[in-house]
Amino acid sequence: MKRYMITSALPYANGPIHIGHLAGAYLPADIFTRFLRLKGEDVIHICGTDEHGVAITLRALKEGVSPKELVDRYHERIKSDFSKFGIEFDHFSRTTRPIHYENAQRFFLRLHEKGYLYKAKMKQFYDPKSGRFLPDRYVIGTCPYCGYPEARGDQCEKCGRQIDPEDLKEARSALTGEPVVLKETVHWFFKLSALKEPLREYVSSKDWKPFVKEFALSWIDELRDRAITRDLDWGIPIPLNDYDAEGKVMYVWFEAPIGYISATMEWAEEVKGDPEAWKPYWTDEDTVLVHFIGKDNIVFHTVIWPAMLYAHGDYILPTEVPANAFLNLQGRKLSTSRGYAIWADELVESVGQDIARYAVALYIPEKDDSDFNVRDAFTRTNAELVDNFGNFAQRVLSFINRYMGGKVPHPGQLKGEDEAMLRLLEETVRKYEDLLLRYEIRLALREAVKLGAEANRYYEHQAPWKLRKEDPERAKTVLYVAFQILKGLSALFYPYVPSSVKRLWEYMDLPDTSFQSLVKPDPSLAGHPVKESKPLYRKVEEKVIRGWEEELKKRYERATAGDKREEPRIKYEDFAKVKLRVAKILEAERIPKTDKLLKLTVDLGDERRTLVAGIGHVYKPEELPGKYIVVVANLKKKKLRGVVSDGMLLAAHDEEGNPVLLTVEREVPPGSEIG
Ligand code: 2FM
Ligand code: ZN
Repeated sequence: MKRYMITSALPYANGPIHIGHLAGAYLPADIFTRFLRLKGEDVIHICGTDEHGVAITLRALKEGVSPKELVDRYHERIKSDFSKFGIEFDHFSRTTRPIHYENAQRFFLRLHEKGYLYKAKMKQFYDPKSGRFLPDRYVIGTCPYCGYPEARGDQCEKCGRQIDPEDLKEARSALTGEPVVLKETVHWFFKLSALKEPLREYVSSKDWKPFVKEFALSWIDELRDRAITRDLDWGIPIPLNDYDAEGKVMYVWFEAPIGYISATMEWAEEVKGDPEAWKPYWTDEDTVLVHFIGKDNIVFHTVIWPAMLYAHGDYILPTEVPANAFLNLQGRKLSTSRGYAIWADELVESVGQDIARYAVALYIPEKDDSDFNVRDAFTRTNAELVDNFGNFAQRVLSFINRYMGGKVPHPGQLKGEDEAMLRLLEETVRKYEDLLLRYEIRLALREAVKLGAEANRYYEHQAPWKLRKEDPERAKTVLYVAFQILKGLSALFYPYVPSSVKRLWEYMDLPDTSFQSLVKPDPSLAGHPVKESKPLYRKVEEKVIRGWEEELKKRYERATAGDKREEPRIKYEDFAKVKLRVAKILEAERIPKTDKLLKLTVDLGDERRTLVAGIGHVYKPEELPGKYIVVVANLKKKKLRGVVSDGMLLAAHDEEGNPVLLTVEREVPPGSEIG
């Protein structure tokens, strides 16, 4: 037996749970945990709400309540969302519990004592009106690239570019709308730079998904010390007797992962009644520590958190970080703040828990972003779950009830096709287990569905309703085999659709519902009585699908209504001030230590110029020379990462905000004017 410590990312207590959260972390974690538990492994699944941080304080401000009131409300809401969706935890805690304050402070002190923390000055944006320091994303101003007046200090939502907050024009506070200033403050820094080598070794040794591992390694390359304290009054105080510590709290991303341990300690006390019971899960080298997260959390779980654990010294490091990409909805980005989402509770109310789980499981974004399209999702669920597994279960059980006296019949001599069916079950189980243990949750489900389809085909082909009169002995054999296959299928479907499978087990009235027993044909079940059964699922009707399509269209329109304000018109003379010219790219190279910036040398007819362009994440330097592009020629020069950019190239931005270069329809001499 193995020991597994499973966590799901602690959701911020500032909004309800939607299908993006579920697909990204909680449903895969729940499926994985249920699978292991069914197999009898020693496994606990721990989570809780993440209740500190600026996001919480600002949301509270907006709603006109205290942070405490806000997190109390959303903690309850999130807990209930998970329970409606059938996401089970051994313990669901909160980062505002005293046990977590103590644990996080002990953790901080340990790193401090071991010399991993130091105090230093830094400059940060400050909102004089509210008297608060602001993180980059709470500074708003005009985007230096596209002129969008509501750009955030970390990234422009309109053009998608990353922004250095100091480059925002008319920078103001997202809180008060007042101008912000740069102000000096003191913080404690975590010496991450000193841990580069052990971290590189740690990540290199892992067999993680390629995108997770690459992301982690590229971060380690540029690892710098990070401030782990903040000027805020909502959070865990710095446990030092130091004048500078006053009014400061731990950075939420420093303490939240410690919350995984605190929540396990709380589980030990409150659920197990044994305060020591958490220890093997966090200190025994044999424990498999698995963090289920979405891709925006990768750095924290693959680099910074392992660095904290390493520096602390008492704990094991994450074994697996099965991160997922993002889920889109009807081809568009989900947004909690704009209300563009399908919420967990309403989906369950609309189609029931297991149909909802199945539909979402189909789109777990294991490798790339995936798109939840309600029509596809429900059509597939109808076909794969209702018509396939559900239908098979109902056929087999009702036949046994109706024509076999309610008892699994004793088989006669098995034929080749019966044996082939049982062999297929065995093979499928092997593949399925293999896939799930590699976190290939969607592929594992494919295997179960394939077996279900084969089982239906077998049943259809044998046609026991005809055999019943023509060859009753043979009909018994077929039903016996079908019952054994159904038992196996139930194990494979259980982690995905647990409540309906539990209902199925009641109908089947099985003596043992462990994985091993379910997937193994059991001859002693001949003669076993079953109970009266009802269909496990109802199909999602066309009118429900259409209802969702229309509702989502409305939600999207509402979410984007504000974006469509008509822009003020300008005079021709204003436009004419911009000198646009055609340029030919001569050379292109990456600017080191940036992920997007390229340095271009272009031919402008009478001169050569250097441009810096943020297109390196989309264009490779070698594909650029020879291209004719459009540049703004009379822009003031600007230094970017040490390189002076003398002009700006023009690009359109696609659906994802990625640049698409503007070119001319036919070659014209470099330097040609545009107007
Ligand atoms: O992204 C989020 O929702 C964070 N609250 C996740 C925190 S995970 C962990 F570190 F606690
Ligand atoms: Zn912009």
